[in-house]
Amino acid sequence: MSTSNSRIYFDNAATTALDAEVLDAMMPYLTDKFGNPSSIYSYGRESRLAIENARKSVAKILNAHPAEIFFTSGGTESSNTAITASVRDLGCTQIITSPIEHHATLHTVEHLACRGEATLNYVQLLSDGHVDLDHLEQLLSEHDGKTLVTLMHANNEVGNLLDLHAVGEMCKKYGAIFHSDTVQTVGHYPLDLRAAPVHFISAASHKFHGPKGVGILYINENVKIKPMINGGSQERNMRAGTENLYGIVGFAKALELATARFASDSAYIRDLKMYMKDQVAQAIPEVTFNGDVDGRSLYTVLSVSFPKTEKSEMILFNLDIQNICVSGGSACTSGADQGSHVIRAINHNPNQVTVRFSFSRYNTKEEVDQVVSKLKDMI
Ligand SMILES: Cc1ncc(COP(=O)(O)O)c(C=O)c1O
Repeated sequence: MSTSNSRIYFDNAATTALDAEVLDAMMPYLTDKFGNPSSIYSYGRESRLAIENARKSVAKILNAHPAEIFFTSGGTESSNTAITASVRDLGCTQIITSPIEHHATLHTVEHLACRGEATLNYVQLLSDGHVDLDHLEQLLSEHDGKTLVTLMHANNEVGNLLDLHAVGEMCKKYGAIFHSDTVQTVGHYPLDLRAAPVHFISAASHKFHGPKGVGILYINENVKIKPMINGGSQERNMRAGTENLYGIVGFAKALELATARFASDSAYIRDLKMYMKDQVAQAIPEVTFNGDVDGRSLYTVLSVSFPKTEKSEMILFNLDIQNICVSGGSACTSGADQGSHVIRAINHNPNQVTVRFSFSRYNTKEEVDQVVSKLKDMI
């Protein structure tokens, strides 16, 4: 999206622009309809109805039961809750994850392992960055107790997509609990939770043109966990605290719009990504692409590695000066010096500099042309 000062925003995996229609749907709940959803008079009932309608709409789109949808503050809270509850409430004594998960997952499992609450095993990755399913099965079969498998549906830095069904079926075979961080895929792919063998999924609406600070945790109806936050009786006694009313309304609206637009938006964005890939490869033949870019890959994310030179080491800085917003890995690590744990795990070439370009329906091929031409000058 080019804004008035001609900024080019190619960092849609970090967050997306709020859709004007979503804001319209939220506005009444930021102004007139301010009642506390727990109040019994009409103002309160109006707010309660908005929340329950949002829950029904989200559940219908994901083919889940409304009672399986819990509104949270976003992906981080949802993943923390699912992982911690699997160990503390569901008796999981082993956690299997991958080295390329988001920190919301990695730091939570490391915390539990450090406290001795579960053993932690990392599944190996194949050369294209996909999870090695044979190794996953080996880890599952070697453990006597109950296991939690937590693997993301799509990687936010390189875009690799997990085969949710294959992993879910394997978890079923070994009686394991399966949580998937679907933060990069909810709102970008249709998900059918009746058919998908998952116990928990996490999502956040700011990744699909909804508001920040609101997400969902899907908990399969056969899974019973203890309250995530203690206090009042909100979210059916599971997550206390006055609900983020306008956020919840915005989440549902954003998901409705994303679902209605899925066919056209996904085709448009996939085309942009592949156009950028071809243009960069033509302009700078030394580049390489991280992950399974031509295979099972998120259509919004393109991870490009440039040969390390004095110039390319300044690339993020120079793109920023040119008003081009991109990320060196994930947003959560940009600004820190450590670089990306994902790129370190799958790209073993230390003489490269990696940039993540991520797209939305607001981007255009003209913007791609401008960015590629700037990149060519910079490199
Ligand atoms: C894959 C993934 N998981 C989790 C998160 C965290 O979500 P939130 O910022 O809503 O807490 C993000 C956002 O950066 C993400 O990309």
